[in-house]
Amino acid sequence: MCGIVGFSGRREAAGLLVAGLRRLEYRGYDSAGVATVGGGRMALRKTSGRVRVLEQALEAEPAAGPCGVGHTRWATHGPPTDRNAHPHLGGRGGEVAVVHNGVIENHAALRRELEGLGYRFVSQTDSEVVAHLLAQALEALGGADLLGALERVLPRLEGTYGLAAVSPRCPGEVVGARLGSPLVVGVGDGEHFLASDPLAVAPYTANVAYLQDGELVRLTPAGFEIRHRLTGPVTPRVDRIDWKPDAVELGGHAHYMLKEIREQPDVVLDACRGRIARGEATATFGGLNLTHKQLRRVRRIVLAACGTSWHAAMAGEYLIERLAHLPVEVEYAGEFRYRNPPLDAGTLVIVLSQSGETADTLGALRESKRRGQTTLAIVNTVGSTIAREADGGIFLHAGPEVGVASTKAFTAQVTVLTLLALYLGRLGNLSFAEGKGVIDAIDRVPDALGRVLETEPTVEAAAQRVSPARNALYLGRDLHFPVALEGALKLKEISYIHAEGYPAAEMKHGPIALIDPETPCVFVAPRGPLHAKTLSNVEEVRARGGPVAAVGTEGDDELAGLSGIFLPVPDLPEVVQPLLAVVPLQLLAYHAARLRGCDIDKPRNLAKSVTVE
Ligand code: F6R
Repeated sequence: MCGIVGFSGRREAAGLLVAGLRRLEYRGYDSAGVATVGGGRMALRKTSGRVRVLEQALEAEPAAGPCGVGHTRWATHGPPTDRNAHPHLGGRGGEVAVVHNGVIENHAALRRELEGLGYRFVSQTDSEVVAHLLAQALEALGGADLLGALERVLPRLEGTYGLAAVSPRCPGEVVGARLGSPLVVGVGDGEHFLASDPLAVAPYTANVAYLQDGELVRLTPAGFEIRHRLTGPVTPRVDRIDWKPDAVELGGHAHYMLKEIREQPDVVLDACRGRIARGEATATFGGLNLTHKQLRRVRRIVLAACGTSWHAAMAGEYLIERLAHLPVEVEYAGEFRYRNPPLDAGTLVIVLSQSGETADTLGALRESKRRGQTTLAIVNTVGSTIAREADGGIFLHAGPEVGVASTKAFTAQVTVLTLLALYLGRLGNLSFAEGKGVIDAIDRVPDALGRVLETEPTVEAAAQRVSPARNALYLGRDLHFPVALEGALKLKEISYIHAEGYPAAEMKHGPIALIDPETPCVFVAPRGPLHAKTLSNVEEVRARGGPVAAVGTEGDDELAGLSGIFLPVPDLPEVVQPLLAVVPLQLLAYHAARLRGCDIDKPRNLAKSVTVE
C-alpha cells in the first residue's frame, strides 16, 4: 500500500528518495513522486506508473536539494493519474508539498471550505486538503514554523494518516505525523530519514525510532524531535533493526515469492528456535505476559485476522481444538471490529498479522482492548503497531516478507499456532507422550519441507495444465480445509485464475455444479482418518469429467491413480501436514502465474500491507 520516504541531510535527496521508494515497491502502488527543497525552491516530479517512470522523469529534469519527501500511491480517492500522484502542493503558490498515507474521511467538507477561501484543487484525492491546510497554517505562523503549522492542522483531520511535508520556507526540514498509519525515523550520522516502513531506510541506518499515534516529528540534518499532539515533547526510543543483510535481496531467485517459498524450511526452524521445552514435552514463549494460572482460566479463544493470516488462524482453530480442547472462533478482523460479539473474562483474543499494520486487524485489536479483553498478537514485523499495542504476543521471526502474496508468513504462523496449541494442551489434558509426539513431528518438518521443495519440477509441469484454466476448485477436509482455502487464494491473487476453496464434504452442496473438463479440482488429501471419504469426493469429481490434481502422501498409489496430477508430500503425522501440503500449492500458483506472464511480486490491485479499511 502507499509508501512514504523523507530525507534531510547534506546529500542530494532525490536519488535517496527514489531508492527508498524502490524498496517500498513491493507493497503495491500505482503512481510515484518526489518533492525536494534546495536553494529556497521546491522541485516536484510525479507520475502515474512505476518508480522507474519517475526516475526517467528525474533524469530528464532533475530535482535538486538536500531535503525532500517521496511517495508511492495506491489509489483510494481518484484514479492513478499524474495529478492524483503525491506529493501535493498546498497554498496559492505551492508553499508546501505533502505526502499522505491513510484516508481523510472529512475531506469533502474541508475541500468545500478551502475552495470557498480561494484555494484551487488540482487532484481528486482526499490528501490535497492537507496540503492546503498546512500552507494556510504556515502562513498564519509567519512562514517559519512547519512543525507548529502541522500541529495546528491535525485536529481538523478525521480519519487516518501518516504524513510528511517540506516547504522552501523552512529549508532543510522534513515534518511528519502519524495517526493509524505507520511512520519511522531512520537515525543517521548528519542525516535523518522518515519512512512508512523501515525497509526503505535499511541500507542507510539500522537505528530507527517508531512514531506512535498522535505524534509529530521534525527532522533536520543535525537531529530530530518528536512531540505528542496533546502532551508535548517525547523522549524518543531508538531501536536497532537486526535483519540479515541479504534479507531483502533476491539472491539469485527469479522472484521474492519464490525466494520466500524456498526459505520455508528455515522459517520453521526460526519460528521454533528457543520455544521447545523437550523435558516437559511442551512449548515455551517469552512474550505472552500471561501466567500459567491466567492461561488456565481461558475458556475460549477468538482468532482475528485477514487474508492469508485468517487462513492460518483457521488452521490454528483445528490445532487448538485438537490439542487443547478449547473452543476457538476465527473471525474476519474487519467484521469482528464492528460487530458486537459477546466477549467475557474467559475469552482470550489473539490477532494474527504478518505486517502488524493491517488496519482491520489493528481495529479488531483496539476494539478488544477497549472492551477490556486480554489480547495477544502473532506478528512478523517487530516494532509494528499491532506488536506494540497488544498485551503480549509471539513473533514469527520469518524475516521481511517482500512478495505481495504471503507464503512464508503463513508457514511461520501455522508453526507458531501448532506450538501454542501444544502449550495450551500441556497446561490441560494433553499427556506427556502426546506432547512429545507433536514435538517429534515438528522436528521432522524442516527436512520434509526440503523434500517437498525438490518436487518443484513436478509442480511446474502440473502448472502447465492448470495455467490455461479460468476457474479452479480447492477441496480438503479437517486440517486440510484451511490449506485448500490458502491454495485457492494464492492461485487467484497472482495468476488471476478464479479459484475457490471448500471443505471437500461441502462440494456436493453446490460447488459440484461447477465441475466440467475445464475446471481443475485440487484436492488437499494427505493420508489421515478422513482419507477414504476424500477419495470418494475425488471419485465424484472424476465421474463428472472434472480434472483432478491432488496433494497426497508419498506412496499413496490409490490417490495418485485417481489424479491426473499428483503432488507428493512426505508421510508425517497429520498435525504438521498443513505445513507441508501448502508448499506444492504455493509453487503451483507461482508457476501458473509465471506461465501466464503475470507480475508475480506485484500482482494487480493488491497491496502488501493494507492500512486502509
Ligand atoms: C495474501 C495476502 C493478504 C494478507 C492480508 C493480511 O497473500 O498477503 O491476504 O494476508 O492482507 O495481511 P497481514 O498478515 O499483514 O495482516
